[in-house]
Amino acid sequence: MALLEARGVVGGYGEADILHGVDLDADAGEIVVIVGPNGAGKSTLMKAVAGLVRVRAGAIMFGAEPIANAPAERMILRGLAYVPQERNVFPSLTVEENLAMGAYARPAETEAGMARVLALFPDLAAKRRVAAGRLSGGQRQMVAIGRALMLEPRLIMLDEPTAGLSPKFCALIFERVQAIARDGIAVLMVEQNARPALAIADRGVVLAMGRNRATAPGPALLADPEIGRLFLGG
Ligand SMILES: Nc1ncnc2c1ncn2[C@@H]1O[C@H](COP(=O)(O)OP(=O)(O)OP(=O)(O)O)[C@@H](O)[C@H]1O
Ligand SMILES: [Mg+2]
Repeated sequence: MALLEARGVVGGYGEADILHGVDLDADAGEIVVIVGPNGAGKSTLMKAVAGLVRVRAGAIMFGAEPIANAPAERMILRGLAYVPQERNVFPSLTVEENLAMGAYARPAETEAGMARVLALFPDLAAKRRVAAGRLSGGQRQMVAIGRALMLEPRLIMLDEPTAGLSPKFCALIFERVQAIARDGIAVLMVEQNARPALAIADRGVVLAMGRNRATAPGPALLADPEIGRLFLGG
């Protein structure tokens, strides 16, 4: 059984379903990349796993435990961390304060978590006392990812971590994502920078109109002419 197994997930906001029976798997140490058109339900799927969107039917198992509709604030204690697409740092707090927030549920682990995160993102070490709002977009994204890593999750979900970043920072984020996965953490990532993200994906998932359209190792999806034409801009 995979670390994360979602089966036939149906759900959305209010009356209208956005997800119409979606399957999703992620194993320890695996990079899973979800791509698909705007409005496909990629962010909604992540929010459903994170307990932020109501799951009306289907099952979500994490570490063999059912988690569908579990309280979002407990997810981090189960080892599931979620970094949303927007507003994922506190701009007026320093880097260090933002990271400490990530250990809020188990404050005794703050120091060890901080040391681990600053080793993963050495750029942040020199900025510890700087307000997150004063950092570059790439550095802010590192703070958001770092905060999610503070309690050593088993799964980290990143919603468009490279949105708006320069190619240099995109490459850096993807390289760090690979380092996180090498530590045995499952990384589930939604990406609009589909080609470079799929290039590093053990598992690529194409989602369209709230349904699975294709699942295969990222490089296999990249080599598929129909996937390229329909979903990757030719
Ligand atoms: N809070 C919300 N309330 C109601 N509808 C929403 C809400 N958030 C998203 N939706 C709708 O759900 C559908 C799927 O949105 P979602 O954000 O999951 O798409 P996405 O695949 O992440 O797209 P994008 O690539 O633009 O980020 C869209 O039709 C969107 O308008
Ligand atoms: Mg989205």
